[in-house]
Amino acid sequence: MRIDRPSPALALVLVLLSLVFPHSTWAVPLEGQTLLIAAPSPLAAQAGEKIALQGGNAVDVAVTVALALAVTSPYYAAFGGGGFALIQQSKGPQDRKKNPAIEVIDFRETAPLATSAQFYTDREGRSSQDGGAAVAVPGVAAGLWALHRKHGRRPWHQLFREVLPLAAQGFRVSGEWYRLTSANKARFNSAGKKYFFRDQADAVKPGLVLRQPQLAKFLRMYQQQGANAFYHGPVARDIVSTVQKTGGVLSDKDLATYAVRWLQPLSVDFAGHTVHLMPPPSSGGVVIAAALKLIELTHLKQYSPMSTDELHVLAEIMKRSFRGRSQLGDPDFHQNPTLHLLSDGYLKPLAQTIDLRKTSAVSPLDDNSASREDGNTTHFSVLDREGNAVAMTITLNGSYGSGVVTDVYGIALNNEMDDFTTRPGTTNQYALMQGFANRVQPGKRPLSSMSPTLVSKDGQIVMSLGAPGGPRIINGVLQALYRTLVQGWDMDRAIQAPRIHHQFFPDVLFFDEALLQPATLDELQKRGHKLQPTWIAKVYGVRKNTAGWLEAAFDARGEGGAAGH
Ligand code: DON
Repeated sequence: MRIDRPSPALALVLVLLSLVFPHSTWAVPLEGQTLLIAAPSPLAAQAGEKIALQGGNAVDVAVTVALALAVTSPYYAAFGGGGFALIQQSKGPQDRKKNPAIEVIDFRETAPLATSAQFYTDREGRSSQDGGAAVAVPGVAAGLWALHRKHGRRPWHQLFREVLPLAAQGFRVSGEWYRLTSANKARFNSAGKKYFFRDQADAVKPGLVLRQPQLAKFLRMYQQQGANAFYHGPVARDIVSTVQKTGGVLSDKDLATYAVRWLQPLSVDFAGHTVHLMPPPSSGGVVIAAALKLIELTHLKQYSPMSTDELHVLAEIMKRSFRGRSQLGDPDFHQNPTLHLLSDGYLKPLAQTIDLRKTSAVSPLDDNSASREDGNTTHFSVLDREGNAVAMTITLNGSYGSGVVTDVYGIALNNEMDDFTTRPGTTNQYALMQGFANRVQPGKRPLSSMSPTLVSKDGQIVMSLGAPGGPRIINGVLQALYRTLVQGWDMDRAIQAPRIHHQFFPDVLFFDEALLQPATLDELQKRGHKLQPTWIAKVYGVRKNTAGWLEAAFDARGEGGAAGH
């Protein structure tokens, strides 16, 4: 069930209902005292809440939500994708230290061993986006398993209790499911049409039940064997044979050798808080950290919220903070100049070039060698009253990734290879011009924009947030951080507020369709911005508010649910 903005009459009904059923997924924002979840699917949020009620901790909840999303929302959260998460999970009160011990798990996809920097220059244009050649080695099954082994409290098999019926008995598909599935009809291989379309003709319509017995089979194997069920044996064979049949090079060895990585967060102080960000191979943390510093250097707070002056300076900040992105890549393959990009020596002169009256050109850094609708990545957040938290972003990159769905188990496979610099000098699916640091190399992870983020104050996590949306993620998270931490807005208001997006290249200021005032847009145009309306990242977050309890909100720009109590 999804209701974004109830009318007053409906709101009254919901309030009355909530007295009978206190664990509500109806209202936005949801407030609670114990543990809250903000997720892009109400079914997934509800599954997470059930495991919390059975004694699950924040990690158990997060893994359950991710498992449920893989069933309900295969266009962005299938097992054929990858992702990142920031985690704070203490074992009990004694374990709760002054400084939260935040961990980062990187279960992003890797380039198959048979690829190389020339892999796509030798192939036709869309081969990094459509078909088997676009598929990188998936990481979701390894990531959830590793996360649970390290921090889960409830037994692994218990997390499937709520999820298996969603696959085996089915769930009612949403409008989003129908739209994104129909939109990809021409891209699907035959298995995609077989599993998601009735008689291979029309996608299952909103409100009708989709059963996925083939996926339930995989889930049972995963429940019994853990990650081995995906990377070895019949599921691995299904993945390799489907990818190879559709033009890819992924091999048994690629799957058998896939490993998650544990990383340290990139933590920066901002507005009396510490913001814990996703380090490379995401560009998100470095770009957001640079922007937060530029916000302080320009004293952005002096401009009133949503005024032309504020949005103009913010756009100039975004442009400058994205400038360094082209220098970043997988830290196992490339020395990232993170410290330099966040240094006063680099940022102060950039801040000084911001002119309040007009936009100014910023030259690219050396080696700066490089849209469409979203629905391809997902984020959810969990936070409990003790400050245990997970911020997890999962992606297939494009909607339904490569359009390839495995023949036997019906697992949608990513097209994450398009996040590499596939053809120097050309842009990718998100209009990003990428650098040499991000060239294709076997076993390497492509540069990402995903930015799961935690915020702490006085040693306790007080916020968990993130977004899907390619490079728009970065500015979505940035603006939600700014509106909450500096302007004191609540989670919901910060998430629903109009947003802008600038990613350095192209030199265009993207703005939230229909949400910004025409007079503000006129003014921004007069200051020299090339304006373009756009879809915008959807932010999901849970925060501990100043009253001391939790509030969860999801972006009304898309589907979502909040749950917990
Ligand atoms: O990792 C990245 O940056 C992209 N693969 C994310 C794509 C994405 O967020 C699409 N969502 N709408």
